[in-house]
Amino acid sequence: MKTRITELFGIEHPIIQGGMHFVGLAELASAVSQAGGLGMLTGLTQKTPELLAKEISRCRQMTDKPFGVNLTFLPTFSSPPYPEYIAAVAEGGIRIVETAGRSPEPYMAAFKAAGIKVIHKCTSVRHALKAQQIGCDAVSVDGFECGGHPGEDDVPNMILLPRAADELSIPFVASGGMADARSLVAALALGAEGINMGTRFLATKEAPVHQNVKDALVAASELDTRLVMRSLRNTERVLKNAGVERLLEIEREKGSALQISDIYEQVAGVYPKVMVEGMMEVGAWSCGMVAGLIHDIPTVKELIDRIMAEADALIRRRLGPMLLEGVTRSRSNPALV
Ligand SMILES: Cc1cc2nc3c(=O)[nH]c(=O)nc-3n(C[C@H](O)[C@H](O)[C@H](O)COP(=O)(O)O)c2cc1C
Repeated sequence: MKTRITELFGIEHPIIQGGMHFVGLAELASAVSQAGGLGMLTGLTQKTPELLAKEISRCRQMTDKPFGVNLTFLPTFSSPPYPEYIAAVAEGGIRIVETAGRSPEPYMAAFKAAGIKVIHKCTSVRHALKAQQIGCDAVSVDGFECGGHPGEDDVPNMILLPRAADELSIPFVASGGMADARSLVAALALGAEGINMGTRFLATKEAPVHQNVKDALVAASELDTRLVMRSLRNTERVLKNAGVERLLEIEREKGSALQISDIYEQVAGVYPKVMVEGMMEVGAWSCGMVAGLIHDIPTVKELIDRIMAEADALIRRRLGPMLLEGVTRSRSNPALV
């Protein structure tokens, strides 16, 4: 399939794997790129720029296809040295960066000087327009369904994507709730040039996470996510578990007086416990409503091939004939013309 996104990034299929903390390691990013999509290493999962440089070269040994690096500008407990991370990315020969969290404006000059294409993840049309205005090459439009940080506007993709299509001139991918060929075809119909998936890629053979995480996604339904940190205006969609129930209880008790320190135990240092050790009840880790559409744990290649083959069939065999049948019917009954 050829879209503005496949052309922009030099990839075969319009499918991107979004950055995921403790998940976007070389194993997953290289598998996605090898299968014809665009894999992303998650920059800040590497504790230092030097470690990111090592992860980039490890990934390069696993694939000769293009892959990118995610740089997330979110409120964290310690502020990372972003210029050094960007230098590691540029020196590692990376030419695609996915930014998220805050506007990448302060770093655009550095990205452009290094010939890096920037795709910025946004949860609103106004942020997408700002990204376009500051020179981003593409945006990833993240609807309210998404795993991770859906922003504070609560607009789902059925509305957000056509709104983005109406306003943007740069290409965009649909992110949040994307799982299969139906998602891809719907996203294309709504004006996107491809899809970005997070949660779905977690439940693949190559995702370098504990088996408990993959099993939890297969077991979960679309009703099993929760929104946390709303009152801090740092909303995150996470999979429910005992730690998250406790977090929500603290949020209810504290109300608008809630401080991040009140929920430190349920949000800080949770990722290694979940992703590496498989401790599923400890606290908040991002997960999309799309969990309800995940029923198996294929290889990345099986997943991507299946999406592309079924999208082809969906367009040609389900949607195409609807038009043709309409033509035949109206020809046989001129009253319908
Ligand atoms: C476990 C997990 C960790 C994530 N970590 C990050 C991150 O560190 N930075 C980021 O920009 N997005 C992060 N995301 C968001 C994804 O990149 C992607 O935008 C989102 O998952 C899309 O929604 P979906 O889960 O419905 O596919 C994370 C998502 C998940 C599921």
